[in-house]
Amino acid sequence: MKLTPMMQQYYELKEQYPDSILFFRLGDFYEMFGDDAKVASKVLEIALTSREAGPQGRVPMCGVPHHAAESYLEKLVRSGYRVALCEQLEDPKQAKGVVKRDVVRVITPGTFIEGNLDAEENQFLVALGWETKSLGLASLDMSTGEFMTVSLPTWAGLVNELTRLRPAEILVTSDWKEKDALKSFASDLGTVVTEARDKQESLASASQNLLKHFEVVTLTPFGLTSSAEILAASLALEYVQDTQRGVLSHIRVIKSYKLDQYLQIDGHSRDNLELTKTIRDGKKAGSLLGILDYTATGMGARLLRSYLEKPLLDRKMIESRHDAVGALLEKTALRLDLRDLLGEIYDLERLLGRLVTGNGNARDLKALAGSLAKIPEIKGLFVQETTPLLAALAEDLDPLTDFTQLVAQAIVDEPAITLRDGNLIRDGYNSELDKLRQASSGGKNWIRDLEVAERERTGIKSLKVGFNRVFGYYIEVTNANAHLVPETYQRKQTLANAERYITPELKEQEVLVLGADERIKELEYELFIEIRRRVEDHVGSIQENAHILGSLDVFQSLATAAVKYHFVRPQMSEDVSLSIKQGRHPVVEALDGRFVPNDVFFDEDQQIILLTGPNMAGKSTYLRQVALLVIMAQMGSFIPAQEAKIGLVDRIFTRIGASDDLSTGQSTFMVECSETAELLLHATERSLIILDELGRGTSTFDGMAIAQAVIEHIHARVRARTLFSTHFHELTKLEYSLKRLVSYRVEVEEKDGDIYFLHRVSRGSTDRSYGINVARMAGMPHPVIKRSLSLLEKLETSGNGPKQLDLFKTLDYDTTQIESTVEIAATSELEKELLNLDLNNVTPLEALQILALWQQKASKEVGSHDAD
Ligand SMILES: Nc1ncnc2c1ncn2[C@@H]1O[C@H](COP(=O)(O)OP(=O)(O)O)[C@@H](O)[C@H]1O
Ligand SMILES: [Mg+2]
Repeated sequence: MKLTPMMQQYYELKEQYPDSILFFRLGDFYEMFGDDAKVASKVLEIALTSREAGPQGRVPMCGVPHHAAESYLEKLVRSGYRVALCEQLEDPKQAKGVVKRDVVRVITPGTFIEGNLDAEENQFLVALGWETKSLGLASLDMSTGEFMTVSLPTWAGLVNELTRLRPAEILVTSDWKEKDALKSFASDLGTVVTEARDKQESLASASQNLLKHFEVVTLTPFGLTSSAEILAASLALEYVQDTQRGVLSHIRVIKSYKLDQYLQIDGHSRDNLELTKTIRDGKKAGSLLGILDYTATGMGARLLRSYLEKPLLDRKMIESRHDAVGALLEKTALRLDLRDLLGEIYDLERLLGRLVTGNGNARDLKALAGSLAKIPEIKGLFVQETTPLLAALAEDLDPLTDFTQLVAQAIVDEPAITLRDGNLIRDGYNSELDKLRQASSGGKNWIRDLEVAERERTGIKSLKVGFNRVFGYYIEVTNANAHLVPETYQRKQTLANAERYITPELKEQEVLVLGADERIKELEYELFIEIRRRVEDHVGSIQENAHILGSLDVFQSLATAAVKYHFVRPQMSEDVSLSIKQGRHPVVEALDGRFVPNDVFFDEDQQIILLTGPNMAGKSTYLRQVALLVIMAQMGSFIPAQEAKIGLVDRIFTRIGASDDLSTGQSTFMVECSETAELLLHATERSLIILDELGRGTSTFDGMAIAQAVIEHIHARVRARTLFSTHFHELTKLEYSLKRLVSYRVEVEEKDGDIYFLHRVSRGSTDRSYGINVARMAGMPHPVIKRSLSLLEKLETSGNGPKQLDLFKTLDYDTTQIESTVEIAATSELEKELLNLDLNNVTPLEALQILALWQQKASKEVGSHDAD
């Protein structure tokens, strides 16, 4: 038995797309066979059947209706699969033999732009290239046409950039060295790695590919000079050319950027500072972005996110953003009108992407043109605008009047979703279409009139004219009236209690009507495609408009947040000062109105702030607040403070307390150390370092020694502005030896053994950790508390108490000699254990057990002392 011809065709196509699930178009369905069917039926939760295929007998099969394919495709792609979409290339009715079919598009996670794309986030396809010394990364958003490249000196830099971009798919060549490491990192990130080629192409052919696509003679104006970036960009472009087979005219420009153009924040710090999502549930609500986002458009939402992820370093550019926000903050009416108008604008970038790639329908076109039609009104809002940035933006908006008018005149108000069923084009737009419609409606009228006329002529009151798909138009007469039927009627169909007839005249009109209707649908489709193609003439202007509207949206969003939360404009400078008066943590404050504002101050003489205070005092909040305010200022936002002057920060490093991220399962002390090593290596004089309880992950003496050495190193060598919080209050003595270090503390008030957190940061230091007070407030049983108090007292008064103070006596810190010998006084086992106990990480029950143990040991120790 031979393969059926259709299955033969299927296997030939399938062979060309071994890595993809082949969607094989069969009439109104896409069918899948064999292993594809097994996988797809599981992922899509659809029935698995089988089909006779020839020699191997029956093969597994499943299918989805073509009109509902989008949601199935989305599900497969979001689960990491690729789909090769195979269509019928000719009308089956006219085909001789097997219908001609071919794959028209390969849908992959990074290129799928239909379905429920999150409007607030870009969907990047990332490609990597390399040459001897550097790594190139290209990121392409197929839904908007944004295309960028960057060079990355190290693997760490790559990891950071990938964490920021969160691509839907990463392309590499099979000869990439770090493929396995990348794959495992990608799976942590929830994305897929595709080996798009066996090996890297030559630089010459990569350049050629780009030059040809962009229709230019040199790539220099794009800033694209690095070979690694060119190779990466070409890999991305080639991939979409191969898989999409459609027009890519919305990919118009490519931009090379440099990491040091922006305030750099590593991935851990982004996460720790909860810039765009919270640590707890990964949601935007509760993050800084959640506070700042009042955008009204998709373009604005995506741009705001990228502002936050890439704050600026250039003072002039930052200030012009502040100007724009300030203008919109002051002009309430302008801001509100702008927001309203923006609310009526659809996602121009995504609509454009769909339309030029041939995936957009008439509603998309209508939405695009309707949105562009709002531009004159928006321009009108800014006629008297004097802020240079806003004025320039509004000036550059292009209303594209001809195009919007064309669409308004051509497309009906509520067009069909499908393209081949008519209901797209208005009357009066095309004379041939009008004529066909007249013919059709003339025929329909004649048929409608026929009913009345025939009832009269035959005397059959219940005579009806109807239509069905199989027999077309007919005249229906009930059996009771059969004797009245004229001879000229021809019987066509017999029902239970009626007969259906036709007449030659009726059939004549029917041919006219149906022929016209068919042709109308075809013509509407053709006219629509013609208009949709016109979008390609305006790709540049539409993208420019989208970018401008996005920017305006971001500024109104920042202004709206500033009004809502009482932000002020920060003053920017290029020195290493940082002075914030009455600053507030934007997110914590939004959750709970009773926030206590605090100052922060750095300058040449005050470089390191050493912050002490008991648990729950507000140390972490204060540290994060400073970092967040700097980021906000440099992204162009106003900030929650009374007044602020900010010397530009080039990089922010954070190391946030060990007990805050126990969930990751890694040795926290190891992570702590490697992150600290990273920042000691890379921080500059212009950086901001946040070290929250460094050294907490190890034993007290280790921790304290490391903490001190790190502080000394930052003081002597790195010289970055640094906030260092610690519960080792002994470290505050460093103030006497390190010239640019100052001690601050978070104030608490103690009353009757209870402590009250004032959340107020002031000069000076805390000399106690109040751990037992906290334990008491957390509900530890009274006998335990009492016992710990007396143990503590013993420890403090006994000669064996910890002698950390000796650490700080003799060293000359402000020299380049920064090693110090740590001399640790002998302590009893019990004291060591007590000192090592992290009260944050014990439950009351565990504490009780520990105390019981200690009591046992203590009584032994006391006993042995007595024996001495
Ligand atoms: N300035 C402040 N005003 C009001 N509440 C604050 C302030 N700073 C911190 N808090 C609250 O105090 C609690 C402890 O803060 P946190 O910064 O984690 O303390 P620490 O790091 O010192 O243990 C948090 O719930 C926080 O919301
Ligand atoms: Mg803390």
